[in-house]
Amino acid sequence: MSTATTAVPVTEVQRLDRTVGEVLDAGALVASMRSAIAGGAAYVVPSGIDRSLLVELRSYLAQVGRSSLPSYHPIEVGAPNSHRMNDGDERSYVRGRFHQFSFFPWNQDLFGLFDLLGPAYHLKNVLSGLPPTSFLARTPEHGCTARIAAQFYPTGGGGLNLHTDPVDRHQLTVPTLELSRRGDDYRSGGVYLTRADGSVLDAQAHLDLGDLLFFNAATPHGVAVIDDGEPLAWHRFEGRWIVLLAVNRLQSTADIGDSMELDATDRR
Ligand SMILES: [Fe+2]
Repeated sequence: MSTATTAVPVTEVQRLDRTVGEVLDAGALVASMRSAIAGGAAYVVPSGIDRSLLVELRSYLAQVGRSSLPSYHPIEVGAPNSHRMNDGDERSYVRGRFHQFSFFPWNQDLFGLFDLLGPAYHLKNVLSGLPPTSFLARTPEHGCTARIAAQFYPTGGGGLNLHTDPVDRHQLTVPTLELSRRGDDYRSGGVYLTRADGSVLDAQAHLDLGDLLFFNAATPHGVAVIDDGEPLAWHRFEGRWIVLLAVNRLQSTADIGDSMELDATDRR
């Protein structure tokens, strides 16, 4: 039976000057981050990945998105890498407007994404109290698998309503990697977290291209509309790009909860 996750409001956002690899080598720091994240703290950690490679990845994804048809595949062993659009789909657990590109550990891809993002996944797992390589094998563990989900939020309408993600045996935190930068690639909007008094913390203001954001999955979060008021142009692939380092339950795994929308207001 799945249980609802209790919301954990954000307390602060702290930027570290060490890369993911360096943080992984600092055991005491990881332990203190883990308890702080459990209590609602968020951390910005530079990925250490070459920025030009991240820009190349973004171009590659846009090219795939432009030149092949979107399709939906449930999360099961052997699922193909694929991309899909979500334009306010009412079947989603959380309403949003974005284009998503999914990669699974059992497939191969041009960028070797699971190798590239290996250290960031290791830190996610360790912060979640799990062995570093959990869920990264080709065979799922505990009914769950890692899934790399690149997400594109288009200028003039991309966004995601306020929600929490499940905290359970598979994760404490769902890191995101920025593939773009507010101010360069878009003007306004982006990721925000909410505090105990309901006020909004603009986490996007702390983030640069190549940065990872680690926060408690149970912290209410959303994506404020990217460049609200601008014309919407999905096909130009201009706007906010991120990579979500997800661990998901397989469709056949029933005992882990789903993401929960907190505010029914349509923020598109
Ligand atoms: Fe989320």
